[in-house]
Amino acid sequence: MGEISVVGCGYVGLTVAVCMAHLGHNVVAADVDRERVEMLNRGQVPMFEARLDELLDEGLRSGRLRFVDDPQLAVTSARFHFMCVPTPQDVDGSADLSRLEAAIDDLADLFPLRSVVITKSTVPVGTADQLRSRLSRTDIAVVSCPEFLREGTAIHDFLGPDRIVIGALDDPTAQSVAELFAELDCPILTMTNRSAEAVKYGANAFLATKLSFINSMARICESVGADIQDVARGMAGDERIGGKFLAPGPGWGGSCFPKDVSALSHLAQAAGSPAPLLNAVLDANHSQLDHIASKALQAVGPTALDAHGQRDVVVGVWGLTFKAGTSDRRDSPAIAVIHRLLRAGVTVQAFDPTVSCGMDEAPEVRVTSDPYEAAAGADVLVVLTEWDDFTEIDLDKTAEVMNQPRMIDARNLFARDDAETAGFSYAGVGR
Ligand code: UDX
Repeated sequence: MGEISVVGCGYVGLTVAVCMAHLGHNVVAADVDRERVEMLNRGQVPMFEARLDELLDEGLRSGRLRFVDDPQLAVTSARFHFMCVPTPQDVDGSADLSRLEAAIDDLADLFPLRSVVITKSTVPVGTADQLRSRLSRTDIAVVSCPEFLREGTAIHDFLGPDRIVIGALDDPTAQSVAELFAELDCPILTMTNRSAEAVKYGANAFLATKLSFINSMARICESVGADIQDVARGMAGDERIGGKFLAPGPGWGGSCFPKDVSALSHLAQAAGSPAPLLNAVLDANHSQLDHIASKALQAVGPTALDAHGQRDVVVGVWGLTFKAGTSDRRDSPAIAVIHRLLRAGVTVQAFDPTVSCGMDEAPEVRVTSDPYEAAAGADVLVVLTEWDDFTEIDLDKTAEVMNQPRMIDARNLFARDDAETAGFSYAGVGR
């Protein structure tokens, strides 16, 4: 099996490293964060991700996987190099490639002869071409192999993908990368680098569009007296639409969608083909976050601001992560709604199964380790993440500890009847 290096051990890099070792390859993975590398070599996972600990342990025990804190050490014995460094959003909305470019500059002379450099990070269309000229090495191939994994199901998605997309200049190079995934049973789609790079943006922007659409539809349902759950069910019956990604919510977030939709919009503008739809998708998402915060405030009714700009209102929040099944709060819609509530001058107390202390991004929020404590004395309870755990909570007891038992269920997690039987005045999204 091939020798593989992985540069960057974040969500994507770590998943690639443990899964490639699981598929039988020898993998050396590098990250500049020494503490993270030491943890990983001890078999400790730095994030909450299903099966990651199991595969990390398997890789370390088999001797096929090891971590180093210097990317230069990782690449010298490998032929295939997965570049998995972050490509965050720059101030103007475009993708910031400085980490990727710095990594390529550092490693250019060290990649062994006839290496294959594979970009896994999401990168703007044209990046592979830029990396080729940056490398100035005609013996090295640059392949684009975008990653489609979802947080929370990253290992499952990597080992059971719907498809693998490989962008390369020539077929033999594409085939050599395809062989790395030979154990996986899925279609492998080969194309040019530029097309492969565009697939990733297209897929994420399309999914975000679907979500902004269903959230807009939910708003319409609220105004005309329809129920979005039934409407989505009816829409999903059309195979062309499909049933996935039709759950309305407080808005979408996470480490990918917001930055990728912004980056694609920026790319479109820069290429002279502005895409107003993408801006509408982003605007609709901001509007949904505003809407959920307003719903919570409206449920409480009119209240006065004191001399310090505060209101005598307590909002209890269940859910802080950007979705269930992850401890990640990056670009979390829950935090975005909370910021809107704080700006309105209310007190926020919150519970999330993965958060045990105060949060830097919203230090004013009192984080509790108990869902009833987050609801205690609250004038309204807002459910912002779709954790199944919340459905196990005793709603009678929750209603009893609140100042006023009102619930804004921004994930339609609870049945209206159950909430009302427990004494809540209940409002979901789009129903
Ligand atoms: C996403 C893409 O799904 C994945 O293919 C890509 O590689 C990375 O970005 P991820 O960020 O892990 O994955 O989250 P995802 O499960 O797609 O959810 C994104 C957001 O949409 C979350 O805030 C989630 O709560 C929201 N969402 C998702 C909904 O509001 N309703 C849905 O029906 C599905």
